[in-house]
Amino acid sequence: GHFEAKFPENFLWGGATAANQLEGAFDADGKGLSTADMVAYVPKEKRGKNGHSLDVTSAEIEEILSGAASDKIFPKRFGIDFYHRYKEDIALFAEMGFKVFRLSISWPRIFPNGDETEPNEAGLAFYDKVFDELAKYNIEPLVTLSHYEMPLGLVQKYGGWTNRKVIDFFVHYAETVFKRYKNKVKYWLTFNEINMITFSPYTGGGILTDRVENVKQAAFQGVHHQFVASALAVKACHEIIPDAKIGCMLARLEVYPETCNPDDVLKALKEDQLNLFFTDVQVRGAYPSYMKRYFAENNIHIEKLPGDDAILKQYTVDFLSFSYYMTLVASTKDDAEEVSGNLIGGVKNPYLESSDWGWQIDPVGLRITLNKLYDRYQVPLFIVENGLGAYDKVEEDGSIHDDYRIDYLRKHIEQMKEAIGDGVELMGYTTWGPIDLVSASTSEMSKRYGFIYVDQDDFGNGTLKRLRKDSFYWYKKVIETNGEEL
Ligand code: BG6
Repeated sequence: GHFEAKFPENFLWGGATAANQLEGAFDADGKGLSTADMVAYVPKEKRGKNGHSLDVTSAEIEEILSGAASDKIFPKRFGIDFYHRYKEDIALFAEMGFKVFRLSISWPRIFPNGDETEPNEAGLAFYDKVFDELAKYNIEPLVTLSHYEMPLGLVQKYGGWTNRKVIDFFVHYAETVFKRYKNKVKYWLTFNEINMITFSPYTGGGILTDRVENVKQAAFQGVHHQFVASALAVKACHEIIPDAKIGCMLARLEVYPETCNPDDVLKALKEDQLNLFFTDVQVRGAYPSYMKRYFAENNIHIEKLPGDDAILKQYTVDFLSFSYYMTLVASTKDDAEEVSGNLIGGVKNPYLESSDWGWQIDPVGLRITLNKLYDRYQVPLFIVENGLGAYDKVEEDGSIHDDYRIDYLRKHIEQMKEAIGDGVELMGYTTWGPIDLVSASTSEMSKRYGFIYVDQDDFGNGTLKRLRKDSFYWYKKVIETNGEEL
């Protein structure tokens, strides 16, 4: 017979952002410096492996702080000036019919150096205004506590997440914002793409790799501290806001074997375990047994306190959220053709097309991954990032014909719907960058994801004027029809 999948009535449609990529105003109202404020724009030909420019060394930070790096541009400091334009931007989200808006709180706006006892009132007041504005339009905030940034003071004074003391600072920050916004925010996430720390220890964990002996050891020790901090944040959230839901967040990297050669299949399975390790801890509440071998082979020894395992077990997350942009291929061949991707590259998949940045576009992979995650965990899922970074062209009349973006999103939403038909419990969908913002991996403005165009170039020139792209009207229809009209 015929089976027609449908989105649930209360499905949360919306968009996702991060403070360091859109707010700007990096030194306004008492905000302290964040790790993201140290990330300079690097021209394409000078970027490292995978085209990223996310890691910063201690020497570079010293140079920047001494004022000697005045020729450099720091796009994450100016963002798209959401700090002063949030009313206009939220009105545009409301016009599209958003049910939810994902944003992050900038930790150094609340605790400028990270280790203060008292929060910065001006920082807290800013988010009050943003949440009140969202409430006017019945848009639910979905708030990430730490999205690719932390107070720079915690890096310099404590060595970032390698230091156990940072758990206490984070939990104090989390409790402060839970108490302050308990009547305004009912959906929370702890760490954005928690697995990022193993790809960029600096951006994921405030770890300066030139200051540690074994980078992998430092990253996994750092993430152990994040696991404990996240679990304690879950505990605090449930106590302070009993009707809230709090989740973890993974950069999901689905891996296919290149062939049916069992060696390729095994390699893909092992890579997949390294991705699911993070959610295994945060959803199932314990370190998975397969990591023992990995830790031994990589000379990693995790320092735990006696109570840690009990904390991880007791305070697991309410739901699992993840980003999804692309899939990877594992191959045991030496001469396999390589491609780039978000966080990590892999082998070329001949069945898929790539974005202008080499990310392999795979809508069916989203259905596969949703099924896999739900089979494994049986907790509600939330896709909190998905989208296409592309070059956009503004026509003379100010219109932007981004049919490539519509095509990408339509195909992913279709597969999402099929996954719901497969029985997957999906809470919502927030596309990455509903408004153009600064790229995380390259700090470019020209890598655009938005339904709303922002007139600004890679160097911060432009009027910052907001324009509706064709995809703006398309997404509005999608939400209006609850995913029936794609
Ligand atoms: C995710 C991050 O990795 O991908 C976002 O959580 C990021 O912060 C997004 O912006 C897209 O990546 P990029 O590098 O194209 O901005």
